[in-house]
Amino acid sequence: MNTSYSSLLNDLQKSLDNCTSSNELYKIKSTFLGKKGILASQFNEMRNISHEEKKKLGQELNKIKTQIELAIREKEKLLNAQKLESKEIDVELPGMNALVGTRHPISITINEITKILSQFGFSKVIGDEIETEFYNFEALNIPETHPARDMHDTFYINVKNLLRTHTSSVQIHSMEKYNAPIKIMTPGRVYRCDSDPTHSPMFHQIEGLYVDEGVSFTHLKGILEEFINLYFGKKMEIRFRPSYFPFTEPSAEIDIKFNNKWLEVLGCGMVHNNVLMNVNIDTKKYSGFAFGLGIERFAMLKYGIRDLRLFYENDLMFLKQFSGIK
Ligand code: DAH
Repeated sequence: MNTSYSSLLNDLQKSLDNCTSSNELYKIKSTFLGKKGILASQFNEMRNISHEEKKKLGQELNKIKTQIELAIREKEKLLNAQKLESKEIDVELPGMNALVGTRHPISITINEITKILSQFGFSKVIGDEIETEFYNFEALNIPETHPARDMHDTFYINVKNLLRTHTSSVQIHSMEKYNAPIKIMTPGRVYRCDSDPTHSPMFHQIEGLYVDEGVSFTHLKGILEEFINLYFGKKMEIRFRPSYFPFTEPSAEIDIKFNNKWLEVLGCGMVHNNVLMNVNIDTKKYSGFAFGLGIERFAMLKYGIRDLRLFYENDLMFLKQFSGIK
C-alpha cells in the first residue's frame, strides 16, 4: 500500500479514537469521505495519470474507501452502544418530527353547533358541573317526589351537591342573573349513572333558551328546523312529536329521518310558567322556548360514528380522521 494511504488510515484511526459524539463522527466522516474530503481529492488527482496507473490506483483507493467506511460504521455502533448504556440523551441528535394534534370530534361538533346558534343571536354561557338539587331539579319544576327524577340516575356528591344531569340547570342560573329578555346557549358535560355501549356516565349536551315578549312555538319550530338543516348541510326530513318534560309546556321531541328510520335528536318546548315564576320573570309579559340536545348523538349522526365509546378512548386512528376540521 502506498505510504501516504497508510498514514491516511492512521490519521483516521487517531481521529476515531478521540471521537466521543455522533456530531464529531459526522465531521470525521465528511473530512474523509465528503464531496470535498480527502478521499475525493485523491480520486481527483487520478485525472492526470496514465490509464494503467489509474486502474491500479483506483482499485487501491476503493479499498481504502471501504476500510474508512467500515471503521466509521464500527465507531458509530460503538457510540450508539455507549449511549444506550449510559442512557444519556444526545442533544446533538436531530429531533423527531413533532406531531400536530387535531380537534376532538366533540369539540368540533360543539363549535359547529354554537356557530350556527350564534348566527341566530344566542350568546354562549358556561355553567358549573357541580349543582344543587334546586338548580338541577326543583327550579326546573321537578319536585323531590317527581317520577322524572328517577329518569336521571343522579350522581350525588353529598346530601346537598350533585353532578348536573343536564345543561337545563344553566337556564335557571342565567335567568336569575340576566332576567328577560334572554337568548343563551350553553354547551357542556353532564353526568348520569348509566354505562353501556350507547350510554356513557359522562356526555355532552347543549341547551338553548330564548325568552322575550311574544315568543311562540312558531319561533321554536322555525329556528330549530333551520338549525338542523344548517348543521347537516342539507334539508332534512323532520317531525315534531309531542312529548313531556316538567320544565316545558307544551313539550316536543324532534325526530329526523335517516335511511327511512325516525331517530329522536332533541327535546324542546315552551318554558313552563312555573320555571319563569321561579326566577321572577313576569309571565304576563314574557314567554320563551328551550331545547336540549346530545352532542355525541349529533356528532354520530353527522360523521357516521357507530359506537359512543370511541369518543372517550383517545385512539389516534379514530381522532386523526377529524384533522382539518375546525
Ligand atoms: N334536559 C333534557 C334532558 O336532559 C333535554 C331537554 C328537553 C332540554 C326539553 C330542554 C327542553 O331545554 O326544553 O333530557
